Amino acid sequence: MQSAVSSPAPGWLAVPDDADDLVPAVWPASAERGPDGELIIGGVSADALVRTYGTPLQVIDESEVRGRAAGIRTAFDTAAAASGTTARVYYAGKALLNTTIVRWVMEEGLNLDVCTGGELEVALAGGADAARLGFHGNNKSVAELERAVEVGVGTIVIDSEIEIERLAAILARTGASQRVMLRVNSGVHAETHDFLATAHEDQKFGTALDRAPALVARIREIEGLEFVGLHCHIGSQIFGVAGFRESAARVLDLHQELLADGDIPELNLGGGFGIAYTRVDTPEPIENLADGIVAAVAEGCAARGISIPALSFEPGRAIVGNAGITLYEVGTIKDVPLENGSRRYVSVDGGMSDNARPALYGAQFSARLAARLGDADPVLVRVVGRHCESGDIVVDHEYLPGDVAPGDLLAVAATGAYCAPLSSNYNHVPRPPIVAVNGGESRVIVRGENLSDLLARDAGIEK
Ligand code: LLP
Repeated sequence: MQSAVSSPAPGWLAVPDDADDLVPAVWPASAERGPDGELIIGGVSADALVRTYGTPLQVIDESEVRGRAAGIRTAFDTAAAASGTTARVYYAGKALLNTTIVRWVMEEGLNLDVCTGGELEVALAGGADAARLGFHGNNKSVAELERAVEVGVGTIVIDSEIEIERLAAILARTGASQRVMLRVNSGVHAETHDFLATAHEDQKFGTALDRAPALVARIREIEGLEFVGLHCHIGSQIFGVAGFRESAARVLDLHQELLADGDIPELNLGGGFGIAYTRVDTPEPIENLADGIVAAVAEGCAARGISIPALSFEPGRAIVGNAGITLYEVGTIKDVPLENGSRRYVSVDGGMSDNARPALYGAQFSARLAARLGDADPVLVRVVGRHCESGDIVVDHEYLPGDVAPGDLLAVAATGAYCAPLSSNYNHVPRPPIVAVNGGESRVIVRGENLSDLLARDAGIEK
């Protein structure tokens, strides 16, 4: 029986044969159904996790993070070796950062990229070797730059002319030295399948290619500043190699020009490798991306008669995105009549405060019943949160078993990247804890907030 509620379905979403299935590209490799149909992740059942920690709950599969970190490192190492160079992978901490994640990625041999003084302190608190840190940002304060120089951050990625002078003043004052890269804006902007290339991209990051030579000349004349290369990041959730190839070609022209005045040992091409959020997302395997991007750089260098620099990359989402799921309890359910049928709204006890991505970017996600299998034909649902805003959508379009009911446990997949970092206390909702699972064990890695946390900053309350 196909109910009338499915008519507002988008074209890309087909009715699944099984609305309890766990699409492998979307869920962590450890995700499976237990004997009673319950979702198990990292060897721990979703209902056991919820009995211990409550809902909403952000769960991170440690093996998935470590496996993806190691896999990406190997993919780039292999690709670079085949082209006679080396590759360094920085985990982009903005995707999900806490001291536990810092330890995991460092233990897997990755470096770490931070973009604020706050992220820098988390990295240091996690025991990160400062020499393995990269520090980005379009508006680093003098205090942040001073701290980075003081602790010995490996590479500062300079974003503007003003920052060069700020660093020059710090080095003059302290006598320190600092490795730096210059972020350039290649005019290529890529998202998922498409890329857009213009002469000048209209955004805030980096410096235009044609202005870069003057900035590099200035960097090179400052005592203590060591210019190691160019940096370029073209976007996020990118599926193909084409945008990277176009961007690399443009940046290599500049790299070649700058070689006239000195050695340039490195080139950083940023992150942005896409992941699957729904069954229709088919990102390129990371090995193919690594091979394609590194080969494009190698060919570009050969064509220009220059030697290939050491390469760096900065993936965030591709390491943690599919390692995270969020568990919610279903509250109210209503069928809302529409022109073309009706839509079943399934409300959960979280929402845009723990996952702002649908509201911010129109991002799509996938959901499944987590404590049982369904016992009815699939119905089209929209999973929504508990916030006072109609854009408070958690999963825009999904098929769930038609018997989804209040009290059911719901798991949303691929919430490991950019969900906790973008979380808020909108409507005075406390942020959920983050729990790591591995080998049948679970532990809190970031505690959840409580109402006292929310009231603690209100200066109008007598303490
Ligand atoms: N490097 C730089 C300089 C970046 O700006 C970013 C992301 C990355 C690396 C890592 O990109 P990834 O590999 O994670 O795609 N909040 C948005 C994504 C913002 C990305 C910002 N920069 C979202 O939720 O989709």
